[in-house]
Amino acid sequence: MKKEFSAGFASYTLEKALVIHADCFAWMELIPESSIHAVVTDPPYGVKEYEPEQLEKRTNGSGGVWRIPPSFDGHVRSPLPRFTALNNGERKQMKEYFSEWARLVLRIIRPGGHVFVASNAFLSQIAFSSIAEQGFEFRGEVIRLVRTMRGGDRPKNAEDEFPNVCSMPRSRYEPWGIFRKPMLNGMKVSDCLREFQTGGLRRKPDGNPFEDVIESERTPQKERGIADHPSLKPQSFLRKIVYSSLPLGEGVVLDPFMGSGSTIAAANAVGYSSIGVERMDEYYQLSKQAIKKLSTIVLKDAQLELSLS
Ligand SMILES: C[S@@+](CC[C@H](N)C(=O)[O-])C[C@H]1O[C@@H](n2cnc3c(N)ncnc32)[C@H](O)[C@@H]1O
Repeated sequence: MKKEFSAGFASYTLEKALVIHADCFAWMELIPESSIHAVVTDPPYGVKEYEPEQLEKRTNGSGGVWRIPPSFDGHVRSPLPRFTALNNGERKQMKEYFSEWARLVLRIIRPGGHVFVASNAFLSQIAFSSIAEQGFEFRGEVIRLVRTMRGGDRPKNAEDEFPNVCSMPRSRYEPWGIFRKPMLNGMKVSDCLREFQTGGLRRKPDGNPFEDVIESERTPQKERGIADHPSLKPQSFLRKIVYSSLPLGEGVVLDPFMGSGSTIAAANAVGYSSIGVERMDEYYQLSKQAIKKLSTIVLKDAQLELSLS
C-alpha cells in the first residue's frame, strides 16, 4: 500500500497505518480512484483556525479566532476557536472549501463508502450542505453528547444588566455528518458489500445496530498529555466511529485532516488499515509518538475491548 498511497510525499508506517505529510487536497488528486473504503475526519471547522497566522495568535494569546472560554470554576481553559467571528465572505469561502474537498473525496472513495465529518452546531449546515451538493448522500448525523465550553454566556459587557439571559445555548453536543457515496445503479447494499466491501455500517460488537447518539466525554487529560493538539478527540468515541465505518472490517479508513493521529490510533486499536494525512510538520512529527500511545490506551468500555481480542 505504501508506494501507491504515499504519492511521493514524506511518510511512515506504523502497524496497519500509513501516515503522510501532505496537503490533503494535493494528495487526493494523486491517489487511485475508488481506493478508499471510508473517511473519518475532523476538519478545520471554520477553515481559517489552522492557518499559520491564526495559530500564531493562539500561541501569543492575542485575538484571532482562538478565545479562552470564560472561567466559572477557577480552572484556566484552553483556547477554543470562536466561529461566530466568521463574516459572510468567510462563510462563502468555507462553502467553496468543503465543496472542493467533497469533490476530491468523491473520486477516491468506493461506491457505497461512508464519510463521517465532525462539525459543530452552527457551522454544520454550511459544511454538510456543501458536501451533499457534490453528490454524496446525506445519511444523517451522529450526535456526540459532550459538555463543551461553547455558548451559554451572558450578553457581553452587560452581564449584570441581563443576568437571566444567555446569548446562545451552552453546547451539549457535537454533530458528525454521515455521508455515503451513491452505490452503482441498481445495486443493493448486499451487492455493494460483496463487490466493494462498502454500502453499510458495521454493527456493534454485541450485534446491535450502530446508533446515532453516542454518550461521550471531553478528551481525557491522559490523552491530552500524549497528544498536545487543540482539537484532540477521545479514543472512547473515535474507536466506535472508526469501527462502524467498515461494515465488514475490511478495507482502508482515511483521515485527511489527521492532526496528531487520534483517528489513526483508533484504527490501529480496532485492527483496521488506515491512512492519515497532515499538512503541518509539527502535528505530523507529534503523531509519530502519539499514535502508538493513544492506540494502546485501555478503555473502560468493555464491549469495545471485547471486539479487539
Ligand atoms: C481539527 S484538527 C484535527 C485534529 C484531530 N482530530 C486530532 O485528534 O488530533 C484539523 C487538522 O487538519 C490539519 N489540516 C488543515 N488543513 C489541511 C490540509 N489541507 N491538508 C492536511 N491537513 C490539514 C490541521 O493542521 C489540523 O491538524
